[in-house]
Amino acid sequence: MRPETLKRYAGSVPRYTSYPTAPHFSDKIGAAEYGLWLAALPSAARLSLYLHIPYCDQLCWYCGCNTKATQQYEPVSNYVEHLVKEIELIGDAIGGKRIADHIHFGGGSPSILRPEHIRILGEKLRGVADFSEYAEFAVEVDPRTTAEDRIAAFAAAGVNRVSVGVQDFAPQVQMAINRMQSFEKTQSVIDGFRRHGVKSVNIDLVYGLPYQTRDSVEQTIEQVLKLEPDRVALFGYAHLPERLPHQRLIPEDHLPDAMDRFAQANRAANTLANAGYVRVGLDHFARPGDRLAGGEVRRNFQGYTTDDAGILIGFGASAIGRLPQGYVQNAVATGEYQRRIAAGELATQRGHAMSKDDDVRSLAIERLMCGLHFPERELLERFGESASDVVEEARLLLDSETDGLICADPDGDGFRVTEKGRLFVRSIASVFDSYLGAAKVRHSAGV
Ligand SMILES: C[S@@+](CC[C@H](N)C(=O)[O-])C[C@H]1O[C@@H](n2cnc3c(N)ncnc32)[C@H](O)[C@@H]1O
Ligand code: SF4
Repeated sequence: MRPETLKRYAGSVPRYTSYPTAPHFSDKIGAAEYGLWLAALPSAARLSLYLHIPYCDQLCWYCGCNTKATQQYEPVSNYVEHLVKEIELIGDAIGGKRIADHIHFGGGSPSILRPEHIRILGEKLRGVADFSEYAEFAVEVDPRTTAEDRIAAFAAAGVNRVSVGVQDFAPQVQMAINRMQSFEKTQSVIDGFRRHGVKSVNIDLVYGLPYQTRDSVEQTIEQVLKLEPDRVALFGYAHLPERLPHQRLIPEDHLPDAMDRFAQANRAANTLANAGYVRVGLDHFARPGDRLAGGEVRRNFQGYTTDDAGILIGFGASAIGRLPQGYVQNAVATGEYQRRIAAGELATQRGHAMSKDDDVRSLAIERLMCGLHFPERELLERFGESASDVVEEARLLLDSETDGLICADPDGDGFRVTEKGRLFVRSIASVFDSYLGAAKVRHSAGV
């Protein structure tokens, strides 16, 4: 890849964990609309449940998640009380139990929860939906502070997949991001989950952090391989200090440039591929036997998933939900979220009702992000005339100069992103984003 080509495609673009992306949600959709959407859920609807815990023991300077550090447990305890109330409110609004195929506790660090709160939240969710026999119940943990009693409580609540934050094992990098984490502690937490029967393990890594080099990223991956994760998520560091003040503590002078980021991502991908991992979409890797490596992959707010429930119910501050009619997002600030729940209201602050055009573009972007394919036939079959604009845009793109990042599909069904284009798939997807540029929104680097 030539530097000038890289520059052309490495501009800031969304991560496309949804379309439209969250910054384009508006207050036209609020609690009243969400209440109606929930009441209209078909009785056979299969659900995916997401519960957000916006607390950590300590703040990492690079963090882009909605969270805050707390030394006391009281705010967490108070928050859990509101979560319980919200689960009851939503259960009432749905009016009848459904089935859940996916449950995810994310954050922040859900591992901060005390065992009794893990148990209560699990039980409350089971009051809204029965967990199916094959349900995937995942939890994100910060291994630096995950105690044995938390591991036991998650396992007892039915968790069967754990996602462990690592980012990087090099001490100089860890110091610069305010996250000192030993290999031994990480290993003991993973071993603990496995001992308690939680067999599926994901590890999160980040490239593009201060002081990282191609060699140091490779060394971290060599260490990670010793932990034998089933999945690895490899994120490019999103540096947005204007929006996230704590990121101003990141030593910018030592951040790798676009060419280094690109080289780090490639080195990491090759190291994982040589170890037998299958690359999934933009930034996930899975062992050949893992569901993510085999089945149909979807994209949601947690990244790549096998979750095909279609209906996502979010609980907690900033949580996003997806229903057939559109998206909803809870109040982001915990204070506002708790105020609304305490008043007996749904905490929806913003959302988006999907138009036909949104549905077409949403599917096109999801297929590109997951399977690196623009599925012309599927779009025309599912949406008919409504897909014609998008299909025309794809044909125009294929006819233009794209530096070998895309090629015609061999069966004449739209186009495919080439291996060279994989790292730029967000930029390619952004061609079909009709909201991009509509508002002044800062996104992260394209690579
Ligand atoms: C909720 S955290 C994972 C669980 C736990 N809090 C931890 O850090 O160990 C989600 C993940 O998002 C990724 N992440 C956070 N901030 C990021 C940023 N600014 N750019 C890219 N990835 C980021 C990290 O890989 C992190 O592990
Ligand atoms: S990366 Fe994880 S542990 Fe660190 S501040 Fe963000 S959510 Fe908390």
